[in-house]
Amino acid sequence: MNFKFKKYWRKTGLNPKWGNKLIELIDQKKPHHFLEIGVFCGVTSRNICEFLNIIQHGNFTYTGIDLFGDDNEDNDEKKPTYIKHQKFSNPLKHIYYNFFLKENLNSLESVKKFLKNFENKVYLYKGNSNKVLKNLDIKKIDFAFIDGGHSYQTTLNDIEIVHQNMKGKKGTIVCDDYQDASYITDVKKAIDYYVKKENLSLRVIEGKFAVIEV
Ligand SMILES: C[S@@+](CC[C@H](N)C(=O)[O-])C[C@H]1O[C@@H](n2cnc3c(N)ncnc32)[C@H](O)[C@@H]1O
Repeated sequence: MNFKFKKYWRKTGLNPKWGNKLIELIDQKKPHHFLEIGVFCGVTSRNICEFLNIIQHGNFTYTGIDLFGDDNEDNDEKKPTYIKHQKFSNPLKHIYYNFFLKENLNSLESVKKFLKNFENKVYLYKGNSNKVLKNLDIKKIDFAFIDGGHSYQTTLNDIEIVHQNMKGKKGTIVCDDYQDASYITDVKKAIDYYVKKENLSLRVIEGKFAVIEV
């Protein structure tokens, strides 16, 4: 498959190397209903929609959950530094987004606009996954990318709810930041605990992606 992960001149949690690895995993599994927890500015979301649109001929859904700035109650999260402020190393991007467009890229409105080509296939939810996820019907989800809150409690909540909804069907869960970022250790602890408890098989790719096949 000749698809290359694009950054779309925004900010992204995944660099092209890891974006392409995620696309490769999606290509292997060919899911129809994708869930991303932690949308950020929508770059991974957009790549996923573009890719699923090609391989599934438009027959797919994408569901995304993010705080979208609503993080008052979320103080225990260990945020990667790049998401704290809308700062860009490229001064042109800084001027373009902060002064010209005055657009917050990690907002529901901005991501909605960015994914508008897939409007009728995209479901975006603003809020804390600890609350939002349990009230969503995610029974059809057959591929989840968990990359939202990086605390022990949130990681465990997200994996548990997604896994319980996938049980008995075929599905894939990929969690980011398993152990590559030394300042985030809770993600690994939560995944290891849950995988052991549920007797699941875990494959870790270069210390970063934790892949759980259901
Ligand atoms: C690492 S970024 C996600 C990067 C994105 N997946 C990408 O590839 O560009 C983490 C995102 O998770 C969101 N987040 C953090 N805690 C959350 C929570 N408890 N519920 C929902 N979203 C959360 C943050 O607002 C942030 O946008």
